[in-house]
Amino acid sequence: MKGVILAAGTGSRLAPVTNIISKHLLPVGPYPMIYWSIIKLRDAGIKDILIIVNKKHLGSFIELLGEGEDLNVTLKYKLQQSEGKGIADALMAANKFIKDEKFIVLLGDNIFEDSLIPYIKTFQEQEKGAKVLLKKVEDSRQYGVPILDENSKKIMAIIEKPDKPPSPYCVTGVYFYDQEVFNYIKDISPSSRNELEITDVNNLYIQNNSLQYDLLEGWWIDAGTHASLFQANQEIYKNINMVNAK
Ligand code: DAU
Repeated sequence: MKGVILAAGTGSRLAPVTNIISKHLLPVGPYPMIYWSIIKLRDAGIKDILIIVNKKHLGSFIELLGEGEDLNVTLKYKLQQSEGKGIADALMAANKFIKDEKFIVLLGDNIFEDSLIPYIKTFQEQEKGAKVLLKKVEDSRQYGVPILDENSKKIMAIIEKPDKPPSPYCVTGVYFYDQEVFNYIKDISPSSRNELEITDVNNLYIQNNSLQYDLLEGWWIDAGTHASLFQANQEIYKNINMVNAK
């Protein structure tokens, strides 16, 4: 299975430093943020990885990571053509790399404890469709939030950044897709914040009765704000045994 890491976007919530550096290159513990996504994929056996970046930061990524030799992975890069046009827009850039196989997508600012191995295994067994990982959070308003049917254990819909969250769960930035995802991305339109939303793509999977979910068990952080970036650093140093880049 191949992996895609989305590391474009504007990083505006981490300004002003993100005016000159990608947030994915800021330190989390002893390594730049992007290392953690690469290590998660690698340690689950996924070594063929595409990183989606903005043109203005491409040089820094290549200077830091090269083709992945230091981390024992094979890295390729692709540009998101229009900066900040949304997660689904960034993912579209992976179409040629993926061709027609199942794959995993990580948002490059998500830092988490769990191994991906069990989730990859159940996704391999899933005949078709997609899978998302949910996490219970204190305040889900800043995330994609699922409406869950407890009886059928299904997600009925996902609402992006709701004022009144329908559940205490958030949809994390760990996604498993089949190649249908690229057709779904072509079917969606920009949201009110003018982005192609991954939540709209996931809702199309729900409408086609092909979105499964699992729960993340360990800690999970979207390190996209100053406060959560600080928290991610704390978690990494608390779990210093996670620090194993080589
Ligand atoms: O962290 C989980 C949340 O991530 C989900 O619950 C939401 O449903 C999902 O929309 C997303 O919300 P955020 O507002 O936190 O997304 P953000 O704009 O911070 O982008 C997350 C990552 O995606 C970031 O590391 C870079 C990448 N990205 C984002 C955008 C908007 C791109 O590569 N290109 C983009 O245009």
